[in-house]
Amino acid sequence: MIIFSLLAFLVSSVNALGQDTCVAFTSAQSTFSIASNGKAAPLLLSADDWPGVQRAAQDFAADIQRVTGMTPTLTNVTSSTAPRSSLPVIIGTLGKSSLIDKIVNSTSLDVSSIENQWEAFMTRVVDNPLPGIAKAYVMIGADKRGTIFAMYDHSEQFGVSPWWWWADVPTTQHSSLFVTPSGCSHGAPSVKYRAIFLNDEQPALQNWAAEKFTNGTGASLTGSPFNHFFYTKLFELMLRFKANHLWPAQWSSAFGVDDGVNQFMADYYGIVMGTSHEEPMLRSIPVEWNLFGNGGAWDYSVNAANINAFWLNGTIRGKPYENVWTVGMRGNGDEPISGADAITLLKEITANQTQILQQVFPGVDVSTIPQVWALYKEVEGYYDEGLQVADYVTLLWTDDNWGNVRRYPLPSERNRTGGAGVYYHLDYVGNTRDYKWITSSQITKIYEEMSIAIDRDATQIWVLNVGDLKPSERETEFFITYGWNATRWNPDNLDTFVSSWAQREFDLSNADAATVTNIVGNFTRMNARRKPELLNGTTYSLVNYREAENVQAAWTQIQAASTAIYSKLSAVMKPAFFQLVHHPVLASSNLGAMMIAAGQNNLRASQARLSANALADQVEMLFENDFSLEAEYHTILDGKWDHMMDQTHLGYAYWQQPMTNSMPMITRVQKNKQALPGVMRISPEGSLAAWPGDNMFQCAAQINCPPPTISIDQFDPIPNRFIDVGAGGPAPFTLTAVSNSSWLSVSPSHGSVSPSNPEVRVFATVKWDELPVGVSMAEITFSAAVSGSPPTTMTYPAFIQANKTGTPSGFSGFLEANGAVAFEAEHATRNNSVAGMVWRILPGLGRTLSGVTPWPRLGNNENNFTAGTGPSLEYDFYTFTSSNATVTTYVSPSNNGLGADRPLGFAVQVDDEEISSNYFFPPAAPGAEPVGWDGSDGFAANSIIAVPNKVTLAPGTHTLKIFMIEPAVVLQKVVINTGGVRPSYLGPPESISI
Ligand SMILES: *[C@@H]1O[C@H](CO)[C@@H](O)[C@H](O)[C@H]1NC(C)=O
Ligand SMILES: *[C@@H]1O[C@H](CO)[C@@H](O)[C@H](O)[C@H]1NC(C)=O
Repeated sequence: MIIFSLLAFLVSSVNALGQDTCVAFTSAQSTFSIASNGKAAPLLLSADDWPGVQRAAQDFAADIQRVTGMTPTLTNVTSSTAPRSSLPVIIGTLGKSSLIDKIVNSTSLDVSSIENQWEAFMTRVVDNPLPGIAKAYVMIGADKRGTIFAMYDHSEQFGVSPWWWWADVPTTQHSSLFVTPSGCSHGAPSVKYRAIFLNDEQPALQNWAAEKFTNGTGASLTGSPFNHFFYTKLFELMLRFKANHLWPAQWSSAFGVDDGVNQFMADYYGIVMGTSHEEPMLRSIPVEWNLFGNGGAWDYSVNAANINAFWLNGTIRGKPYENVWTVGMRGNGDEPISGADAITLLKEITANQTQILQQVFPGVDVSTIPQVWALYKEVEGYYDEGLQVADYVTLLWTDDNWGNVRRYPLPSERNRTGGAGVYYHLDYVGNTRDYKWITSSQITKIYEEMSIAIDRDATQIWVLNVGDLKPSERETEFFITYGWNATRWNPDNLDTFVSSWAQREFDLSNADAATVTNIVGNFTRMNARRKPELLNGTTYSLVNYREAENVQAAWTQIQAASTAIYSKLSAVMKPAFFQLVHHPVLASSNLGAMMIAAGQNNLRASQARLSANALADQVEMLFENDFSLEAEYHTILDGKWDHMMDQTHLGYAYWQQPMTNSMPMITRVQKNKQALPGVMRISPEGSLAAWPGDNMFQCAAQINCPPPTISIDQFDPIPNRFIDVGAGGPAPFTLTAVSNSSWLSVSPSHGSVSPSNPEVRVFATVKWDELPVGVSMAEITFSAAVSGSPPTTMTYPAFIQANKTGTPSGFSGFLEANGAVAFEAEHATRNNSVAGMVWRILPGLGRTLSGVTPWPRLGNNENNFTAGTGPSLEYDFYTFTSSNATVTTYVSPSNNGLGADRPLGFAVQVDDEEISSNYFFPPAAPGAEPVGWDGSDGFAANSIIAVPNKVTLAPGTHTLKIFMIEPAVVLQKVVINTGGVRPSYLGPPESISI
């Protein structure tokens, strides 16, 4: 079950994620010393540079000290006061720092690669930059953040993790720091505004912040703990990983009210502020409106004058700072606006918002003021129905709150001056269920969705809803890092993001970093298959395909791998690893194990098995352990992260979080009572029933059913069958299992069953060589010898039906067994390209192994293919029976992001039968999700869409072809049901292929 591809790692000793490296820890020819031989190069700035640059330079100096122990001096100089005969680092902003301008002018340094480029920077060794200075390492930003990012970029390469405070990542010590003469440089980022959104911040982030940043009372008007002590920590973190934009916490907070210097501080640090999709004109809704709306309704159709005045004040308040202004409007509580004609009303609303901006910024062309309109939920519907949005306003497309982007810009929408962006979720409150407890997003999936945004020019603003931020540190950084420079990343190097990250954070060897990459890939896959909040005891089949047990085993393996790394780490490293990897692994694995144990407990009680009781104990233990893990998180580092894991996650009854954690239902059998049919219970795999005695699942009649028959096919990917023999009560017995046929072996054939060892699992294995083609039957007799006076013996049979199909000659491909053929989409026999497009593997994506998608996405001139003409995947398979079969293609739950008239689709053909087109994401009302999306068995919850096609199959060789119609379709798995597919969450295991 643990499958995550490992690529070759290319990890240098400098651990920087997706960046050029220009730092060295030993001197080499023409390297420039930042700190060596006990001396750090002086840092020189210009007094007229941005205050935010001055501030970040202090972090830069502190970072050099943290790494080397040497403290550089930091001084403002001019060309005439610069210390002569020093070898300094000179830092400044082009067009702002007179020192830098002077150097550029006097040395004719070519700055054309960064000039006027948003957030660009270059650094390099410059000869004779200033009178009396022979050499300097010059760090030039094209603008304020360009300079700031240049410094933090170097800090990260020096060994200071962006998360040094936020995840306690220890700084890697070096005795010397050097930079290469050609330095590092970066042009304008791929995405202009790279934002995080703190959201649904209660209970965790809010309770933590209240304890750490307030004296217990919070802001006077709101009680909010999110003051500038909190936010400046956040701003520094954001700048360190090159985020530049923030939507602040909002549910019981108001950024501009909670702390009178919040807005100023953001601007000073260099963070562009916005407000969420439902909070226009930089004012928090509902908090600020409730405070300052004079008791009026948040309803533009009846209270426009008051609302305009409210917005005007917010605009005046925000005027001095760098902002992106949210325009449009939603109703109170993040609900649709009221009023009969929303589109007409929104037209009036935005016209007035424009007027407010013009009033507050006289003489400024309003089209140059950054503005965004989030097409969230019903607002997207209005847009589809013809709502006009000014060309200069950025259209912010959104996901379905579950990581599937609803719509990307169409070709006709790509030339808007305001461009487009994406609002994406790692955390959500709402239908189908809140997910806000633990990391449950896959980096591969984030890449898959956001790379379409890159392809389709939705690159003006990206906003990531990060919930409480922790524990989504790594996924948050990936999202922003990808937006910083999308050209660095492709489907085949995403795991190097995680491995480089692991090395940067934990100083791991290549081998251990590879292990962590596996751990992260696997545990986020397990949590993304189905959010932990949606798991229950029967999510994974308790009886078919050993599904629940394989999930348990996978969790055990992930947990063991994480524990092995954790145990090896030094005491200073452990807290970081605990926060970033180990706790999420332990907590998720604990919950996963608890759910399965609860399911098994319920099942076994219904089967009159005494072992139900030990499972009940296990559930209780895991339930208490869940709290212990939370408590451990809260106590590390003297309680630094107290409350950060306050989020409840067990006992969901509907979408909203439960008010406390409650244990999954367990039950017990009476431990001193003997089951009516006797001491021994026989429970074969594949059945919900147990024998002897009656059980409703034994046969259709539900009473007087025959003993069990267990069938196995020659090419079943599960090579044997087990029969659990268990105690039906307190009486201990000695078990023997005897096969009546030489071709059927049983193991173990003896055992002791007692209350302390209430189950023995007996495996039945067929020796296919000894069988003729066709169906053969054998019998296993289970005997229970009970000592006592008089001693008694109870016997009961089980039958094995072995179906030898024979090996087809001259065939290679997948073989039918037990009424099913299943394969991973990436395991195609042939992959045929057309017009330069081909199906490409997205390693690690999805529920089981990977995804496969047509590539490049803008190929074929962005046209679709008619069914049967596009690039195709072919799968050869062999069936031994004839059947009316169903071919089910499992695809990622992608929305129709190319617009309603280009719904996602692919075509399926078996052999030469008719080609069928499949448009799997049904049309929906504008702004809404379609039938099938919602609910605990919906597309979002299941993280998959099953697309069935009926076919008739004769025995013999077949080929399934899957043709591209539209790009952005992601195939994960195919299951062909020839009559034997049983219920399970992930489908049958992959068929044997020869
Ligand atoms: C440099 O000058 C600025 C502006 O006067 C000032 O705020 C800053 O503190 C000075 N930096 C140092 C290191 O003196
Ligand atoms: C650059 O140098 C030229 C000629 O020496 C001078 O006229 C100009 O003002 C200088 N510009 C700056 C920004 O220093």
